[in-house]
Parts: sequence; C-alpha cells; structure tokens
Amino acid sequence: MRTHYCGDINETSIDDTVTFCGWVHRRRDHGGVIFLDVRDREGLVQVVFDPDTVEAFNTADSVRSEFVVQIVGRVRGRPDGAVNDGMRTGKIEILGKEITVLNKAQTPPFPLDGYTDVGEDIRLKYRYMDMRRPEMQEKMRFRSKVSSNLRRYLEDNGFLDIETPILTRATPEGARDYLVPSRTHEHSFFALPQSPQLFKQLLMVSGFDRYYQIAKCFRDEDLRADRQPEFTQIDIEASFIDEEEIMDLTQGMITELFEKELDVKLGEFPRMPYAEAMSKYGSDKPDLRIPLQLVDVAEFLQDIEFKVFAAPAKDPKGRVAALRVPGGAEISRKQIDAYTKYVSIYGAKGLAWIKVNEIEKGVEGLQSPIIKFIGDDNTMAIMKKLGAENGDIIFFGADKEMIVNEALGALRCKIGEDMNLYTCDWAPMWVVDFPMFEETKDGGITAIHHPFTAPSCSPEELKANPLTALSRAYDMVLNGCELGGGSIRIHDQAMQETVFEILGISEEEQQEKFGFLLDGLKFGAPPHGGLAFGLDRLVMLLTGSTSIREVIAFPKTQSAACAMTHAPGVVGNPQLRELNIKLREKPKADS
Ligand code: AMO
Ligand code: AMP
Repeated sequence: MRTHYCGDINETSIDDTVTFCGWVHRRRDHGGVIFLDVRDREGLVQVVFDPDTVEAFNTADSVRSEFVVQIVGRVRGRPDGAVNDGMRTGKIEILGKEITVLNKAQTPPFPLDGYTDVGEDIRLKYRYMDMRRPEMQEKMRFRSKVSSNLRRYLEDNGFLDIETPILTRATPEGARDYLVPSRTHEHSFFALPQSPQLFKQLLMVSGFDRYYQIAKCFRDEDLRADRQPEFTQIDIEASFIDEEEIMDLTQGMITELFEKELDVKLGEFPRMPYAEAMSKYGSDKPDLRIPLQLVDVAEFLQDIEFKVFAAPAKDPKGRVAALRVPGGAEISRKQIDAYTKYVSIYGAKGLAWIKVNEIEKGVEGLQSPIIKFIGDDNTMAIMKKLGAENGDIIFFGADKEMIVNEALGALRCKIGEDMNLYTCDWAPMWVVDFPMFEETKDGGITAIHHPFTAPSCSPEELKANPLTALSRAYDMVLNGCELGGGSIRIHDQAMQETVFEILGISEEEQQEKFGFLLDGLKFGAPPHGGLAFGLDRLVMLLTGSTSIREVIAFPKTQSAACAMTHAPGVVGNPQLRELNIKLREKPKADS
C-alpha cells in the first residue's frame, strides 16, 4: 500500500512519486490551498493539495483529524523560508495527486496535534489514542530497543532464552498471589508466577547452564509509582558461577546499555554492605546522587529528661539519628511543618530541628525548639560530631530503628529533590551483605530476599544465629531505585530444609509447596545463582519518566484495574458453576 513511511521521505526523493499512508495530524486551509500533515510511526510529512487536482482537493478538504488516508504525490523541495529544520521531513513537502480515505475517525477524546495535558484516567481509557502521541511512540520504541539490546548481550554471553509456565504454583517473593481456578481439578487453583524463580533454578538442575527470559511476573501488592501488578523481568540464572561473576556480567550489561542508548558512561558501581546503607541512608536502596547522610547521635541523649529522645536512645531496637542539610537554615517554618507531615507518613511522631546561624557563638548561635530539652553541652557535642556549619539545618528522628530509617531516609530524598542537591545524573551501586532474615512486626521471621537464597555461613551457624546471619544476595540500585536483585542459591537439600525450618515451614508444608524443588536438589544440583531486573523500572529511569505506567503499553491503574478493558470483570454464573465456585455475594451481572 505504500512506498515510504511518512517520516522517512526526504530530499533524496525529490521529483519522485511516492505513496504513503497514515493519520491526518492537522489540516489547514491556506487561501484555496489545503495543507495536510500526515503522521505515521516514523513522523510527519506535509502534503499540499491545490485546486487543479479537483477530486483530490475536494477529498483533502473533507478529511478531519485522525482520518486514515493513503496519498500518492510528488516530492518537492520546500520554497525558501518554508524549510523547517526542526522536522525530519522539513526540507520537503508532497504535492498531493491522489488521496483515498481508508477510514474515518470521530473527534478524538483529546487533541493529538499538539501537547495537551490530559488526565491519566482519560489517557488510560483511550490508551490506543494516547499511544499515537509522539512521546508515547518514542517510549515504546525505546523500550523495544532496550529489550533487544539486553537480549543481544545475554545471547552473546551464551544465555539461552527458555520460557517457563504462567499457570503454576505459588512462588514466594513476598507478595500475594494472583490465583486462577482450575476447571479440571475441582477446588484447586493455579497461581500466576511472582517470578520464574523455582523454574530457573530447576533449569540449572537440568544443565542448561545459562538461562534468561524476558518474563511476565504477577504480584498482588500495594501499588506505587514504580510497581505494577503485572510487570516484566529480565530474568537471569547461571551455573558454576559466583557473586563476582554474576555482578560483573550484569553490571556489564547495564553499562553497555547506557553507553549505547544514552551515551552515558556509568563507571564502576560502588558496593555497599546493607548495614552501611541502612545506617548512612536509612534505606537499602540509597540514592547516592544526594550527598546527605544520617548520623547516629543516641550517645549524647541517653541520660536527658526528654523522653522522646532518651527512650529510643537507650532502646537497643531504637535509633536517634540526625540529618545535616547544608544551606537548610533557609527552610521556612511552613516548610518544616510540611516535612513534619511528610515524615509522619512513615510513622514519625515529630521532626525536631536545629538551625545553625552562628556556630562560633555556641548554643546562642543556634535556633531550635529542642535545645532546652537536650542541654547545651549535649547540643554542642552533637554539632561537633556532625561538623555543623553556619547555614545548616539539622533534622532529628527518634523512634524504633525502622521508623527512623524510613522517615529520615525518605526525608533525605525529598530534601535532595526540593533543594536540587544532586551531585550527578546517574548513581548506580550494588548493595551486598544483606541479612538472611528479618523479624516481622508480629515477632516472626521472614526471608529478606526469597528463601532460596544461600547464606554466607553453615547450616549450624545459621540455625544458631538466624537474625545475624548474612546472605549471598545482591541488589543493583540506580538513583534510589532497586533495578534488580538476586543471589547465589542454596543447591544443597539439607541447607534448603534448614532455611524452611527457621522460617517455621513444617516438613509437611515443605513437601506440599516445594517438594519438587527439594527433590530437584537431590539429583545433582550444580552451584548456581542469578538475578532479575525490572525491565519497566529500567526503561522508566532511562527515559526519565515519573511512573512505570508511562513505559508500559497497557498498564493497570493505581487500583490494579485496566481502565480500557475494565478488567477485572464480573463472571457469570454458568462459568462459575463450571469452575465449582460459589461467590459469597451475588455477582452483579449474570450471563
Ligand atoms: P525481586 O522480587 O527483587 O527478585 O524482583 C526483581 C526486580 O523486579 C522488579 N520488580 C517490579 N517491577 C515492577 N512492579 C513490581 N511490582 C515489581 N516487583 C519487582 C524490581 C526488582 O528489583 N526471583 C527474584 C530474582 C532473583 O533472585 O534472581 C526476584 O523476583 O526491579
Ligand atoms: P514536643 O515536645 O512533642 O512538642 O516535641 C518537641 C520537638 O520534638 C518538636 O519539634 C517535635 O516535632 C519533635 N519530635 C517529637 N517527637 C519526635 C520524634 N519521635 N522524633 C523526632 N522529633 C520529634
């Protein structure tokens, strides 16, 4: 139907007759001459119809925005003064000879011939229209380039692309499962995979040695800007490999991608133990573009009257930390109140502060509502430890360690953004030496990564000190976003059983849920490990998007629904009967 894409026609075709198809982007009537900008995925081209070609002129006059047309015309150079250097086809235009309307279009739900800020609800409802916009076209095209780059890298390094099932059993990655009822097995359900974790490990048992997959994963969890219920991983696993090799290989993959697609050299990725990340940044995914750090100050506050500080300072599970912000003395009271409200989201009960006006005057040169509670000597000792300078503001968090870390960790990023404290554009890093387990709020124990992660110690040591044992896990973090995570796995059945035991999973439950994995480990499982990257997150960062919904063709809304198809939908009684399912409340529709 065409000889060219609209956006590809250029001066090399001057005087040629070309045929192209696309959408009418804009129609203008210039004193008896009709101009159409016609758009396809490669860009726009300008077509001129003059009244000499009567039939074509009349048709061109009748078309409206977003009509689908096929045009035959002659390429000519634009007259001097009409050249548009900002447009790929800006040196030429087409003299239209024939135009066929391939399809009409109703008035679009929002204009496409210029940028208009449309609400996300409308954009998602008419996603197919939204994706006609050049920004979305560019993002989808970029995403496709990213996945082919990664595929190429992995294949060049000997990885095989192997698909794993979508209808499967639960994989514990910490979220709720999406369940699918089985018709043929009464009262039984499949779970959609939270990741291909167990299958990729069993592929190593099979001897494939190096596996990758661009895999769909499903997690029923609370959504945020960087989380979707259905998302894509670049999932990787390899045998006879250690942490160093996996980290080198995947760092190489990301480095090469940035160099190829953004012309950015990421350099060496610093490695930071989990404990250091939590202590200095209050987060296991620190944004190292921001130079601010948390500093412990409990040692000065244990013996004061002020319980808000003294109690957590004395509590082994408490923390009192300070965040020094150079230049922050400018921050207004109103803004401090806003930050206090912000940290309350993370459970902080307040946000104490000290402004440093003239440090050479001692406490007289400080301004704060809390010095009277802390005492002059303690205050000055804290100033010294922090290296306080004139113009600083110092924020304090005092509570359970987790609350202080989350609250001040988030505040650090918020202030970094508000005050534009970034020292670089890209700050990649590895977080290593994660603990194996952590305590849950109800006093139980849970795996920090998944329960297939190998500990750095023997089963006996692990059993003796589960909460202090470290794992062989690693996360790649970029600009405060967890881009990927993985570990060396347990390849020994006894060790795997020990981990399940520590997690309080009975032998019966182990067999029921993971019997196939435990069996697999008995038949000569090689040492193996891997990692999975979030493709959506990676593309989000590379394109500077503010949400992963911007880089997914048909994403779910914040409430995990599809605004376009209205999924999830109500299911009629006959289908439910077939599945042996009875709803506790009557479904709204019956079909
Ligand atoms: P993990 O759970 O850390 O590890 O997931 C790996 C990466 O997937 C991305 N990711 C998500 N992206 C969008 N929406 C979500 N809801 C979401 N959840 C996770 C993140 C994350 O770093 N099987 C292990 C990997 C392994 O050990 O090899 C796993 O799934 O970028
Ligand atoms: P109050 O005596 O409760 O008015 O608190 C005095 C100051 O301490 C105020 O600036 C509060 O915001 C701050 N504050 C209260 N609780 C905490 C806390 N848990 N961590 C840090 N600052 C707090």
